Amino acid sequence: MSDGKIHIFDTTLRDGEQVPGCKLNTEEKVKLAVELEHLGVDILEAGFPVSSPGDFESVNQIAKTLKRTTVCGLTRAVENDIRVAAEALKPAVLPRIHTGIGSSDNHIKYKFNTTRENIIERAVAATKLARNFVPDVEFYAEDAGRADLTFLAQLIEAVIAAGATVVNIPDTTGFCLPHQYAEKISYLVNNVKNIDKAIISCHCHNDLGLATANSIAGAIAGARQIECTINGIGERAGNTSLEEVVMTIQKHPELNLYTGVNAKELTRISRLVSETMRMMVQPNKAIVGDNAFSHSSGIHQDGFLKEATTYEIIAPEEVGADTSKIVLTARSGRSALAFRFKKLGYDFTRDEVDALYQQFLQVADAKKEVADEDLKVLAEAVASIA
Ligand code: KIV
Ligand code: ZN
Repeated sequence: MSDGKIHIFDTTLRDGEQVPGCKLNTEEKVKLAVELEHLGVDILEAGFPVSSPGDFESVNQIAKTLKRTTVCGLTRAVENDIRVAAEALKPAVLPRIHTGIGSSDNHIKYKFNTTRENIIERAVAATKLARNFVPDVEFYAEDAGRADLTFLAQLIEAVIAAGATVVNIPDTTGFCLPHQYAEKISYLVNNVKNIDKAIISCHCHNDLGLATANSIAGAIAGARQIECTINGIGERAGNTSLEEVVMTIQKHPELNLYTGVNAKELTRISRLVSETMRMMVQPNKAIVGDNAFSHSSGIHQDGFLKEATTYEIIAPEEVGADTSKIVLTARSGRSALAFRFKKLGYDFTRDEVDALYQQFLQVADAKKEVADEDLKVLAEAVASIA
């Protein structure tokens, strides 16, 4: 675990596509898969082959297309799922089967109506079967976030002995706090025999808005794969957001972690996924939201115009975004107003800006945002008096 490389496992096309109304066809999936490979993700979860003929076809086409990225197909711990996934993944240069089963007592009782012992038996059988088809098998312990820790460790130890190369510890319901999730990973690192034979993976959902924090906490505790989606899309409140993980790691070199993702492509791919899935990105979304590089209050604008780093920890060009925006509202100050006038070609003196400011506030109080057209009207009025 000495190397700090975090393998980025993108599940936009599988867990991400589980967003209601965001279904993609094969052509759209292959196009996004090519873009994700270009972005630099290490593993791409292409779908759940047994779930439908369309998903089988998508996984199969992606397996034929990608040459550098591991292509992964999801299964339950069910023989037919695994056989079908293996078939879909046949053309892949780097195939991975992702199999697993519920691990919390809640899932064991209500989903499977069985015992912990039976869960281990099914997990081991599924892992062994998958290893007959591919050398790279990832096992997921669904709802590990709420699972008993001693049992989770037994389960993980058993699947590693059965040949799992990656062990996924999903916080399926987005329940954990970051320190709790980190403690889970640390416990596995310290208590599971042969844990160094497998990569530990974080798969966190965002029900409490903690998915990225939990994934980073897991990586600090020793996990070396993070499962995530572009724009954080996915079931309910979504999955860990790829762009947040990549930039958090990039902005904190003291963690001694790194990814192979080209951050300059993040804005472009975020927009592409949003358009293809017809799912808008919330304006205040970290890294890729429309407001991520907008400054609207006078105090922030004044600081930003003196020195960008006073209010920006990321420069827009680092993630391929447009330039930062100075948005004019009733909270904006004189320096922002002067800056925006200057951009429109009006080089007013300080006194002129002072005089214009009161008129500007009247317009700003009446509107949510003052546009260039409004500024031109104000500026021309001053020019006609002069
Ligand atoms: O959230 C989850 O537990 C999953 C598994 C299928 C990996 O998506
Ligand atoms: Zn999930």
